[in-house]
Amino acid sequence: MELAYLNGWLGSLEDAVVSVNDRGYNFGDGIYEVIRAYDGVMFALEEHLERLALSAAAVEINLPWKRNELKEIAEDVRSRSGIDEATVYIQVTRGTAPRNHLSDEDMRPNLLVTVRHNTEIDPALYSEGIKAITIPEFRWQMCHVKSISLQASVLAKRRANRAGAVEAIFILPDGTVTEGASSNVFIVKDGVLMTHPADNRILPGVLRHFVLKVAEALGTAVKVQPYNILDLKKADEVFITGTVTEIVPVVNVDGKKIGNGKPGPVTARLHKGYTALRLR
Ligand code: PDD
Repeated sequence: MELAYLNGWLGSLEDAVVSVNDRGYNFGDGIYEVIRAYDGVMFALEEHLERLALSAAAVEINLPWKRNELKEIAEDVRSRSGIDEATVYIQVTRGTAPRNHLSDEDMRPNLLVTVRHNTEIDPALYSEGIKAITIPEFRWQMCHVKSISLQASVLAKRRANRAGAVEAIFILPDGTVTEGASSNVFIVKDGVLMTHPADNRILPGVLRHFVLKVAEALGTAVKVQPYNILDLKKADEVFITGTVTEIVPVVNVDGKKIGNGKPGPVTARLHKGYTALRLR
């Protein structure tokens, strides 16, 4: 069954209760990870826990758990759920205290782990691709942190949805493409794969990392450097990456067809390579 673990308590998601004084609830003051389990094994758990530690350090949350303890908790909750094809969510908020912007330095963080069934993914996502829109970047300067403060991304997704699209791609004032509301963005032009460097403007995605590894192994030319909205729209192929949906072709941006309007061969090859790497 779907399970929630909250500071040592274990039960159903419906029964899990946090205080109205939780700083995650009041301030969005927390960080998180989303991990996908395949056949009972969480993929790239180490990478996700490493990023959680980096996020925690960046927002000055002192994690009281060792990396191994977090790993054991996540694996234990996953295993008790009995769900093999699962989405595991780990959230750490700064802690619980009456609402005040300033918090005690030694506050104990709250740890939530949930395990849910992976939502069915429509195969058309891969065979037909998705539409995306572009939207001015209006998030903060610490997008490398996997923060639970996601209001900008939530608004971006709503705008995409209203435009009949699945993803919103953020564009800086100078035209630079950063990433999607909940994904990293890649383009392919004349056989060269491009994606924004992992700086403060993007989340260093775990899938992004593996796509770059696969590209290298396949001998695909890669440029990890900024590119702009014109490059995006004139690309031969565009795709987005994320833990849950892996690699998804983008065939239309702002109503303009990408390439021939169909998922491209480089995207397919990289996805095949990723699956092979994951199953190794
Ligand atoms: N989002 N960029 C942003 C802004 C994201 O929110 C995500 C993932 C990614 C891709 O990261 P990864 O490959 O590690 O999943 C990039 C998750 C899954 C979410 O918020 O649900």
